Amino acid sequence: MLNATIILMPKRIAVVPGDGIGKEVIPTALDVVRSSGAEVEFTSFDWGADRYLIDGTTVPADGFQMLARDFDAIFVGALGDPRVPSNIHAKEILLGMRFKMDLYANVRPVRLLDASLCPLKNATPQDIDFTVIRENTEGVYMDMGGNFKMGTPDELATQEDINTRKGVERVIRFAFEYARANGRKKVLMSDKSNVMTYAGGLWQRVFKEVAKEYSEIQTQHMFVDALCLQMVREPRSLDVIVTNNMFGDIITDLAAALQGGLGMAASGNIHPGRTSMFEPVHGSAPPIAGKNIANPMGAILTAAMMLAHLGLGAEARKIESAVLDAVRQRKMTVDVGGSMGTQECASWIAERTAAL
Ligand code: NAD
Ligand code: IPM
Ligand code: MN
Repeated sequence: MLNATIILMPKRIAVVPGDGIGKEVIPTALDVVRSSGAEVEFTSFDWGADRYLIDGTTVPADGFQMLARDFDAIFVGALGDPRVPSNIHAKEILLGMRFKMDLYANVRPVRLLDASLCPLKNATPQDIDFTVIRENTEGVYMDMGGNFKMGTPDELATQEDINTRKGVERVIRFAFEYARANGRKKVLMSDKSNVMTYAGGLWQRVFKEVAKEYSEIQTQHMFVDALCLQMVREPRSLDVIVTNNMFGDIITDLAAALQGGLGMAASGNIHPGRTSMFEPVHGSAPPIAGKNIANPMGAILTAAMMLAHLGLGAEARKIESAVLDAVRQRKMTVDVGGSMGTQECASWIAERTAAL
């Protein structure tokens, strides 16, 4: 009989801290991952505004192929710096990963960890527990459009909203598969088909068609303006939401507020079976960067989401419990009502993780 030994290779993770508070929160999240005992290997890349301002590099040649070939996941902080007003580096790095690596589903879980964090009156963790699946490769983000007679009183600007059958169908199917895999009961599709009739019509038809394959999952439709109202008035009714790129961007900042703010929100940019990218929902927050006040929990919860995606569920759960303990014991930063600095908060979570 062959005496088989299973050798577990560490998961290879590319890390791009990026700009602003990304450079503060990402290293703390790496420490928390290490303290979970996860078998991972980090390789950091200096892509971001500093590098761009030094040598004009946003993403080196073949950068995306290298990420897909050599890594199991990518962990990104945030991109955006006032010294680069065109935001070209953020576009090429962040949107570059999403588009060129075809990470078509942006998964943004919305979970209230403790009632004290929520700005809504009397809301409990049971009331706020849903997931937004945002289309991540199309829509107005494709940057198609143009200007005519720029700078004159007759100036005209267009911005195209691109929706392909393939793109709409795969993200809607992803939402149903996500619901099925996570014991969720309902998928709500949100659009603005009362005004954006062509794109909305496509989303409506495809949603109805794909839904037939998932008869055990309930379906619902809401216009995105009504959905914003619902998110505040009756968030408990929400389960899985699927929507386009721009609406998904907007509603997930609102959803972040329900969880305590942008400092608490996690996300993953997924293409099943391919190297996917994980990033907190927040940006580089230039006004608070470098002051040791940014909330590291969004980045830490994002790291946990990445570990779960890589099959390291036990380590992910330890990190999530440690964050929950930190919230309950108010070991938090000032944005969520605590008094700790970024480092202190993250170190507390790392120690707690190691002890679990
Ligand atoms: P932002 O998320 O950086 O900040 C919005 C507000 O939330 C600010 O008040 C900020 O102080 C606060 N905030 C955000 N994260 C926080 C944290 N971890 N702890 C405490 N407070 C936090 O959004 P913005 O101000 O609209 O954008 C700033 C820059 O970031 C821009 O260049 C923008 O394009 C970029 N951006 C990048 C990403 C990304 O890389 N994924 C996401 C959003 C914005
Ligand atoms: C997000 C951000 C990005 C987006 C920006 C920085 C391009 O707001 O990830 O939510 O609009 O997708
Ligand atoms: Mn956003």
